[in-house]
Amino acid sequence: MKEIVLDEQTIAQKVQELGAKLTEDLKDEEKVPLFLCVMKGAMPFYSDLIKHVKCPILCDYIHITSYDGGLSSSGTVRLEKDIANNIDGRTVVIVEDIVDTGLSMEFLIKHIRSRGNPKRIVVCAFFDKYLARKNEVRVDYSAVRLEHAQFLVGYGLDYRELFRNVPYVYVPDEEEIAAVDRKMDAD
Ligand code: IMP
Ligand code: MG
Repeated sequence: MKEIVLDEQTIAQKVQELGAKLTEDLKDEEKVPLFLCVMKGAMPFYSDLIKHVKCPILCDYIHITSYDGGLSSSGTVRLEKDIANNIDGRTVVIVEDIVDTGLSMEFLIKHIRSRGNPKRIVVCAFFDKYLARKNEVRVDYSAVRLEHAQFLVGYGLDYRELFRNVPYVYVPDEEEIAAVDRKMDAD
């Protein structure tokens, strides 16, 4: 039996609420805010979220890798593709799937600051695994604050690049992880 953490309906509801909150908080910005999708994990969350933001926004993406493809964070973050927009004077909303140790987010925040002079940087993560944090990174907007450190897949979250397309979120069991390992090692 799959241990479902969030079903599709609950996800949709939570994303809609977040979009409404962001709209309220960003509707009077002087410069159009930039919503930055952190590839690849935030892809489904980002595309759902921006449809619920009812004020003008700019869309951009950045691609980093932080997990070595397995079950734990590698600690080292690599930039694969940079931001294209000018961020001077704008609010930048970083949209992430999950903030775990916070190391990736710390890297992102520093990197964005090095690329210009944003008005402010706002962190919006679908999941906030706040108990796993290894630094001072704070999540300003999150759909779910996780008390446990279980490894999750679905709705953008992957194990060895699989499961990102699963529309709900669940905890894969050991058998399923082993089956993926066999498949990917043979691939
Ligand atoms: P951090 O640098 O430890 O905060 O890790 C952030 C990244 O690790 C996220 O963007 C995810 O890609 C990945 N990650 C963290 N926890 C999970 C999980 O439970 N399932 C899948 N990926 C995760
Ligand atoms: Mg990831």
